[in-house]
Amino acid sequence: MSATSRSAAADKSSNSPADAMEWPVAWQTKPEGLGVGRYTDPEFAQLEFEKLWSRVWQVAARVDEIPETGDYTTYRIGDQSILLVRVDDDSIKAYFNFCPHRGTTLGEGCGHFEGGKIICPFHGWRWDLAGNVKLVLERNEFHGGNLQDSDVAMREVHSRVYGGFVFINLDREPEPFDTFIAPLRQYFDDIALADMRHIWWKRAAIPCNWKVAQEAFFEAYHVSATHPQLEKVGSEVVYGDREDGPMMYRDLTYDALENGHGQFYGGDKTPIAGHVQEAKPTDDLVEEMAARMNLTAEGLGGMILKEDIALLRTLKGKLPPDANPGAEYVKLQFATAAQQNRPMPKMTPEIIGKWGGVNFLFPNILILPQAGNAVIYRALPHPTDPNQCTFEIRSTRTYPADARTERSTVEEVTDPNQVGLIPQQDLANLPRIQEGLRSRGMRQTWLASNQEKLIVNMHQEEDRYLRS
Ligand code: FES
Ligand SMILES: [Fe+2]
Repeated sequence: MSATSRSAAADKSSNSPADAMEWPVAWQTKPEGLGVGRYTDPEFAQLEFEKLWSRVWQVAARVDEIPETGDYTTYRIGDQSILLVRVDDDSIKAYFNFCPHRGTTLGEGCGHFEGGKIICPFHGWRWDLAGNVKLVLERNEFHGGNLQDSDVAMREVHSRVYGGFVFINLDREPEPFDTFIAPLRQYFDDIALADMRHIWWKRAAIPCNWKVAQEAFFEAYHVSATHPQLEKVGSEVVYGDREDGPMMYRDLTYDALENGHGQFYGGDKTPIAGHVQEAKPTDDLVEEMAARMNLTAEGLGGMILKEDIALLRTLKGKLPPDANPGAEYVKLQFATAAQQNRPMPKMTPEIIGKWGGVNFLFPNILILPQAGNAVIYRALPHPTDPNQCTFEIRSTRTYPADARTERSTVEEVTDPNQVGLIPQQDLANLPRIQEGLRSRGMRQTWLASNQEKLIVNMHQEEDRYLRS
């Protein structure tokens, strides 16, 4: 355990029931692999609700889900429903979603509290957006006429808006948010995450554990087999007779960060950072780059946008023979965004080298950044069944500060064709993984020491919550 930014969960006394309890072999986290019970045992899933989800900072929404005063949405985790309300331009509050009279939820799904009035549909008790009680019908009938406002105010949940996300924490005394976010904060500031709003947002119910779903994106080791169109050499090794070769994804850097977070990225090895593998006419290099980018633009429908490729192609016929198209393209992107008054990431080699990589925010968010845009994944546990989860994909980008954008709403995915080829390929593996993890023949997974280290890092952090 590292000393610098440990979670409060791990610092609490060691006399908890989880410590006294025998820790099953099937729940073990070892650097070389994980016990399968972590993905399949209902008792493990229950412990996750008690010890992890009840105490960890977690993303409940993006702020553009509730852009106008009075807008609300709900976030469900386990058997708890949380109501997120836009109180005014500058503040959002999170409440436990119940009426103190007889329990009715005060919001369902998402919607708008007309006139700033939160009205219970059962008997009409009413609150303002800040949670103060405004009407108790026949009030003198309650508690001998002594009912206090504080008895029936809405109960707030700890929340924090950061990076365009609304985070909540159900713990009465949560660890400081600043401690939790510290390892990724500078990076998220540098990529202008707070300025990103939705282009689209999709959600699917998937028959696999929530960790299985997200761990499909924790490494690029799967690209050769799962996405052969993205890795020619690797696919020839996997599916053809080729023995080895310069696989693009082998050069990535994997950083396991404090608090379970992590990153992987290409650094200066990515074409976009200016890396050129072969000497060729410049226009051919531009066209190759456009074709490569198009695999993502079409295959994911986010992260790289069609307009980015159109912009790249404007360089054709304009670059000198010794030009580096990747570097020229990046310059052009920043110049274009500046003209549009659109926020962009910091223009440093370090930040640009992480375009196309993956950032994992413990416990369940993945952020895949590009030039002022990002794809964001979220995996949510099923309230009772460890073999099911909800998985979301959001495509976001920055807009000029004064641009009007629609309130974002989710599209339920029921047909694989509603997502691009790349997520289709990823999602197709998930039920098969879960099925295999339930096999009586399987005891543990085996994990690559470098390329799959973010998985181990995540589970080690999870254990610090579960075992304290
Ligand atoms: S349950 Fe809400 S007013 Fe009665
Ligand atoms: Fe993938």
